[in-house]
Amino acid sequence: MKPDLRGVFVTGTDTEIGKTHVSCAMVAAARRRGSRVGVMKPIAAGAAQTPRGLRNDDALSLIAAARGDAHASSVTAAEYTAVNPYCFAAPVSPHIAAAEAGVRPDLARIADLAKVHRSENDWLVVEGAGGWLAPITAELSVSDLAIAVGLPVLVVVGLRLGCLNHAQLTVREIDRSGLPFAGWVANQIDPAMARVDENVSMLTKRLGGPPLARFGFGADAAALAESGNTLIDRLVAKYATVGFLQAADIVGNSPDSGMIPR
Ligand SMILES: Nc1ncnc2c1ncn2[C@@H]1O[C@H](COP(=O)(O)OP(=O)(O)O)[C@@H](O)[C@H]1O
Ligand SMILES: [Mg+2]
Repeated sequence: MKPDLRGVFVTGTDTEIGKTHVSCAMVAAARRRGSRVGVMKPIAAGAAQTPRGLRNDDALSLIAAARGDAHASSVTAAEYTAVNPYCFAAPVSPHIAAAEAGVRPDLARIADLAKVHRSENDWLVVEGAGGWLAPITAELSVSDLAIAVGLPVLVVVGLRLGCLNHAQLTVREIDRSGLPFAGWVANQIDPAMARVDENVSMLTKRLGGPPLARFGFGADAAALAESGNTLIDRLVAKYATVGFLQAADIVGNSPDSGMIPR
């Protein structure tokens, strides 16, 4: 029997390759279909000082996508902290930003917050920071954060030269962590990339199956919504449910299309 998908942890082949872009499209697609979606960006480095405290753009974008409003400005301090408990001003590696702030991110606290989000929502989308092995303290990496949260891992592959190597290394390390690999998404981050389809073919071969969805470069709102919908459909086809959505919710669902056989 297929397992339920109570949430996903979103990682990527690098920083600045579209984790937030894809996460927000996925969150918005699930919300539009009626799921209550919780979001987290547990550790963020790079934030603006506001009258209400430090605010990170990724966390605000995720909150806006989950709420369906363009501005997350009305979020209370308590709501913000539950989404982004560790927020640092400096746009540097989180382990450096945290050390400079004299803070040690507590994975047990993050796991507890994730449990609360899961109990209050149909499912939960958690965005990592940087890539899979980006350090969050002197000893711990994003992989440890993902293990603490305990959700299947979605990999956003930023399509650009070098991504074939980065994607394979990332998925191998996810497999080694013991967490389930939920699948991957092809995000066209570089409009000038040559031989995009050939790269996606090789990734399909090396990552065990085709992308759950493809996101085009500079997609307009309609195309972005379509990619988000495809991603949700493919997740629902692979798992028994995504939030409250079930395979029967997919119009024209063919259960075997685009599934990653693992
Ligand atoms: N498919 C895409 N087309 C155009 N711009 C994109 C695309 N994906 C991401 N971007 C842009 O690239 C930058 C990095 O994306 P982001 O989602 O913030 O990456 P990450 O979360 O991995 O750091 C952002 O400015 C974002 O708007
Ligand atoms: Mg991001």
